[in-house]
Amino acid sequence: MLLQATSVTASYGDAQALFGIDVDILPGEVVALIGANGAGKSTFLKTLTGLLPALGGEIRFDGRRIDRMDAADIVKLGIAMVPEGRRLFPSLSVEENLLMGALSRRAGPWSLERVYGLFPILKERRGQPSTSLSGGQQQMVAIGRALMSNPRLLLCDEISLGLAPVVIREIYASLPALQEDGMSLLIVEQDVQLAMQVSSRVVCLQEGRVSLAGQSGKLTREQIGAAYFGV
Ligand SMILES: Nc1ncnc2c1ncn2[C@@H]1O[C@H](COP(=O)(O)OP(=O)(O)O)[C@@H](O)[C@H]1O
Ligand SMILES: [Mg+2]
Repeated sequence: MLLQATSVTASYGDAQALFGIDVDILPGEVVALIGANGAGKSTFLKTLTGLLPALGGEIRFDGRRIDRMDAADIVKLGIAMVPEGRRLFPSLSVEENLLMGALSRRAGPWSLERVYGLFPILKERRGQPSTSLSGGQQQMVAIGRALMSNPRLLLCDEISLGLAPVVIREIYASLPALQEDGMSLLIVEQDVQLAMQVSSRVVCLQEGRVSLAGQSGKLTREQIGAAYFGV
C-alpha cells in the first residue's frame, strides 16, 4: 500500500468535517474521490498534505506515519497537491510558478523540460504572467507545479472545474503519462461519469463519511446516486 488512511477525523474549530475516513491507494493506482459539495473531499486532501492536522486516526505513506508531520516534510516524501482553484502565484511567470513546485523536490524524473513536454503550450508561454493564460492553461501550470516536486502520489482537487469540455478532455488525456513511472493519483472530480472513466476505484464521501467504495466499473448508477445524495 502506498497510502493507508485509517479512521481519519478532522475539524475546523468546533465543526467536525471528517468522521473516520478510510482510504487506501496502491502504487500506480488512480482512485477517484467523489461526493456532493461540502462532503469533505478537499478537507480529506488537506489532512493528507498536512495543511490541516488530522485529529484522530492515522495516515501512513509507504508505511510511515505522516499525520503528525509538517506539510513541507510530506511534500519531500512524495505527496503533492493540485489545489482547488489552482492557487497560482499571480505576480510570477509560468516558469517561475513551475519552479516554486521544485522548492521541496524529491529526486525523480520531473523537470521543467518534462513538464513542457507534457504541456507544450506552457513552454511557449513560459515568460508570461500566469494570470494572462486561459483557465485550462492555468490548470496545466498548477499540475506542472505539483509534478515538479516529483510526487509518488498526486492529489488533484476538481481540476475540471469551470473548464470547457474540450479542455477537460485535454487535461485528463495527460494523466495516463504520469502513471508510466508508477505514480498514484487521487482525483476529486464532480463529473461522476468522468471520475469513473479515469479511475480504477472510487470512494464516495457523504457528510464526512465514506458512503461507498468499490471498483469503478462495477458500481451501478443507483449505488452511486444513493451514496452521493443519501437517498
Ligand atoms: N476553512 C474552513 N473553515 C470552516 N469550515 C470549513 C472550511 N472548509 C471547509 N469547511 C466545511 O467543512 C465541510 C467539508 O468541506 P470541504 O472539504 O470543502 O467539502 P468538499 O471539498 O467535498 O466540497 C463543509 O461543511 C464545509 O463547510
Ligand atoms: Mg472541495
